[in-house]
Order: sequence, then structure tokens, then C-alpha cells
Amino acid sequence: MGGWYGYRASKAALNMFMHTTAIEYKRTCPRAIVVTLHPGTTDTQLSRPFQRNVPPEKLFTVDRTVCQLMQVLDRLQESDSGEFFSWDGSRLPW
Ligand SMILES: NC(=O)c1ccc[n+]([C@@H]2O[C@H](COP(=O)([O-])OP(=O)(O)OC[C@H]3O[C@@H](n4cnc5c(N)ncnc54)[C@H](OP(=O)(O)O)[C@@H]3O)[C@@H](O)[C@H]2O)c1
Repeated sequence: MGGWYGYRASKAALNMFMHTTAIEYKRTCPRAIVVTLHPGTTDTQLSRPFQRNVPPEKLFTVDRTVCQLMQVLDRLQESDSGEFFSWDGSRLPW
């Protein structure tokens, strides 16, 4: 739909930042796991302006999002470093 230019540009920069950090950490701190997470649409101040377009079952409470992201973190292996994960543990393509 376009729009949100600043937000989308900042996410492009964030993705490159995390990807590059993961590459560097593999060299300098090889046991560290650096991943990027997508939390899913969560009921916060940020999402409030567009929540009316989100079906209720797809709008998570903050507590639910935190639990889901903690579960993703708990399952990580060293070989996952550099990857991008969604709230349900699925791997997002770069
Ligand atoms: N909510 C969603 O549906 C959703 C979906 C996908 C991704 N995300 C991402 O999740 C992250 C957290 O978002 P949220 O939904 O938790 O939003 P939020 O409730 O609005 O929280 C944003 C946080 O960022 C801080 N912040 C904002 N501008 C800042 C600045 N210039 N310098 C330092 N801190 C600043 C705020 O600090 P103060 O509390 O001090 O204002 C606040 O703690 C964001 O990166 C967002 O893009 C959220």
C-alpha cells in the first residue's frame, strides 16, 4: 500500500545492521547468537492507528508477544545466528 516511508526505511537499515552484526559476531564472538525478530501485530501505541484493519485473533497482547518471542529465543541454536524469525518460530527470508 506504500506510505510509512520513514518507518520502512528505518527497518531496511535495521535489517542490514542486524545482518552485518551477525557476520561480525561469527568472527569475533562465535558462540553469540544474533537474530532479528518479527513480533507479530501487538497492541501498543505504535499499532493503534491501524488496529481497526487487524482481525482480533491477529492482534496480540504485549504479554502474549513477550511469551512467544521468549519461546523463539529458547529454541535458538548457534547455527541460527544471522537469521530472521517470526513470532511463531518460522524463518523469514531476507
Ligand atoms: N506493535 C506492533 O504491532 C509491531 C509490529 C512489528 C514490529 N514492531 C516493532 O517492535 C518495536 C517496538 O514497538 P512497540 O510496538 O513496542 O512500540 P511502542 O509501544 O510505541 O514502543 C516504542 C518504544 O520505542 C521507544 N522510542 C521511540 N522513539 C525513540 C527514540 N527516538 N529514541 C529512543 N527510544 C525511542 C519508546 O520510548 P518511550 O516509552 O520512552 O516513549 C518506546 O519504549 C518497534 O521496532 C516496532 O517497529 C511492532
